[in-house]
Amino acid sequence: MDMRYRKTIIAGNWKMNKTASETVAFAADIRPLLPKERRCEAVICLPALNIAAAQKAFKGSRIAVGAETLHEAASGAFTGEIAAGMLKDIGVKYVIIGHSERRQYYGETDLSVNKKLRAALGAGLTPIVCVGESLAQRELGVEKELLAYQVMCAISGLSAAEMKRTVIAYEPIWAIGTGKTATAAQAGEICAHIRACIRRKYDARTARAVSILYGGSMNVGNAAELLAMPDIDGGLIGGAALKPADFAKLIELGSQVDHA
Ligand code: PGA
Repeated sequence: MDMRYRKTIIAGNWKMNKTASETVAFAADIRPLLPKERRCEAVICLPALNIAAAQKAFKGSRIAVGAETLHEAASGAFTGEIAAGMLKDIGVKYVIIGHSERRQYYGETDLSVNKKLRAALGAGLTPIVCVGESLAQRELGVEKELLAYQVMCAISGLSAAEMKRTVIAYEPIWAIGTGKTATAAQAGEICAHIRACIRRKYDARTARAVSILYGGSMNVGNAAELLAMPDIDGGLIGGAALKPADFAKLIELGSQVDHA
């Protein structure tokens, strides 16, 4: 439909997996499997400790390296944390913000997600902001209201130009790491709903420029159907991104997305 206005992005989220050596081995394994022609962006977000090794290992492969989180402050007494400017300085482009695991285990909230998003944009990073409902919330039938609230909190205060630089990932919590994927229709409907929320706050031009990804047990078996939905512009992939052959295949499927 209007895909040329926005990028298709196949993003891996490695979570707390793979050592630096395993990262280098993955890069060597995936290189010969990558499609020659590529019409989508490919990125792997991985533990900050291994970013430098990954950048070296993926050089020339057109797989960008991203981070999994950041701290909202520019610097200061925040032991163990990493600032947006530090990521930018070493050439990182993408950063995941507000993943449901960060919200669940590390107390991230809609408010802190907004602060982190602004910090990322301020440093010139491309944020991938995660939103999604729990099973209980879906069973109550409040997922659309909840998603609108999460997205509105996350993007509060953003200019239209900043909104266009922001990637949203819809990840229903009940589908993450469970093998239980949302149907293409369910995921497509929510991604369209998120785009409509952005359109209402900004305008149609801004809304059609935002890449909206689906995440939650996306794999080589279900990706084509999900990526065929007009408002799904790629995937945020956990488990399947840890396997070179699967991730290469997902990049190939992302390359074939043509909603025109
Ligand atoms: P999954 O993880 O693909 O393993 O479900 C997705 C995510 O948490 O981003």
